[in-house]
Formats: sequence, structure tokens, C-alpha cells
Amino acid sequence: MSLDTRLTAEQTSAYSAVIQRRISHEPAAYITGHKEFYGLEFQVARPVLIPRPETELLVEKAIELATTVFTHSCLIADVGTGCGAVAIALGTNLFHAKLYAIDVCGAALEIARSNCHRHGVSDRVTLLQGDLLDPLPEPVHLIIANLPYVRNSELVKLSPEISRFEPLLALSGGADGLEVMERLVSQAERNLLPGGVILLEIGHDQGQAACELARKHLPKSKISITTDLGGLDRVVSILTSC
Ligand SMILES: C[S@@+](CC[C@H](N)C(=O)[O-])C[C@H]1O[C@@H](n2cnc3c(N)ncnc32)[C@H](O)[C@@H]1O
Repeated sequence: MSLDTRLTAEQTSAYSAVIQRRISHEPAAYITGHKEFYGLEFQVARPVLIPRPETELLVEKAIELATTVFTHSCLIADVGTGCGAVAIALGTNLFHAKLYAIDVCGAALEIARSNCHRHGVSDRVTLLQGDLLDPLPEPVHLIIANLPYVRNSELVKLSPEISRFEPLLALSGGADGLEVMERLVSQAERNLLPGGVILLEIGHDQGQAACELARKHLPKSKISITTDLGGLDRVVSILTSC
């Protein structure tokens, strides 16, 4: 639009610095400081994972349950909230829901706080710092989590954009990738209201193992897997009968 306009020396050097950061593999979202998720703009920075489009499936599943099953009141815990993308997408779409957004990382929660404020959901999203469900003050209808699920052996295979820049705490799921998820499932029963549901994002090759761990800890529950738009296993739904 302004092809005739010459950049000042200051503008040129600022532009070069940004290009240099991208050449060094820094993800564009950390450079610009924001990322779109579920039609909303989120502030992101190095303490938080950049929200991924496949996680929108987790949001869709939660909205489906909240609008068909938990229609009167809906208490939701988003565990491992990061920048708050999942909790805030739910808060802006479900006006009857009250949400708890939990993360072990204080710096991530500060970014989530700013995103809650930006999207006007601070009154319905309570941010809590701590390990998994430990800080939850009351049982909920829905536990929803995109926890770290990369196997330790696979961390080295990640692209430099991920391995050098995104927080290890958001990626590393232990030897089998399911260690954090299994701890969550083992705590879930005492933190769920009767008929409560757990929705977990998983890696594309973790469907069977995730179902087995759910069956081990919640043998009476109904367990199913939903595939993402690429046809890959992505969300495990655990409907408890307690
Ligand atoms: C894969 S990221 C997901 C972030 C966000 N929910 C999203 O989907 O974009 C996982 C998040 O879980 C948090 N986390 C890791 N271990 C945790 C634990 N034991 N308790 C609570 N949060 C944890 C990390 O700090 C990180 O923010």
C-alpha cells in the first residue's frame, strides 16, 4: 500500500531483528505476542504453549456436553490451562458455566489472567495455581485437560520451534507420555460430581493406552475416543457413573 514510503533506519533495524528471531526458529506467535484460537485472540509468551488448532476439538466436545447434559449449571475445571485458551473459549460460549483454570506455572497463570480480562470472563473463570486437581475447591461436572503428553524419548525429535522455545513443562509427559494424565485420572473421581465427565487431549498414537489407563482407574465408566479433522485419535471422553 505504501510502496513509495522509505523505511527509517530505526524501522529497518527493528524489522531485521524480527526476521532474525524467526530465522533462529522462534515461532511467529512468540514474536508477535498473540495467537488465534477458537475465533479469539490470545496473548502468548514463552511461559505458555502456543494453543494448537487440534485442541479446538476439546472445546467442541465440552460445549456439546454443557449444552445437552449439564444445561442448568455447569462447573468446569480446565487443568493445565496455559494461556487460558480452553477455559476462556468455554467461558465466552457458555454463559451458564463457572470455570476453574488450573496450572502449576505461576507465569502462565499471569498470561491467562490478562487473557481473561481481555475477553471479559474474569468474573466466571477462577485461576488457581497448583498440581493437577489439588487446588480445586469443589467437585465439578466436567474436567477438561490438555496436559503434556510427549514421550521423553520423542522430545529430541521435536522441531526446533517447539523444543527450543516452548516450555518443557507443557510438553513432557514422562516415559510413556501419559504420566501426568494418569495422575489426573487417578484423582478425578473424588473431584467429580455424580455423572461427571473427563475430556482429555491425547497424542495420535495414545488412544488405546489412554483408554486402558481410564479403565484401570474408573472401571465403571464409559470411555470413547474422538478423532480430529485429520482422522487421528485426539480426545478421550470418560463418562463416569459415580
Ligand atoms: C500442553 S500445555 C496446554 C496449555 C493449554 N491448555 C492449551 O491447550 O493450549 C500443558 C499445560 O499444563 C501445565 N502443567 C504441566 N504439569 C502440570 C501439573 N502437574 N499440574 C497443573 N498443570 C500442569 C503446563 O504448565 C502447561 O501450561
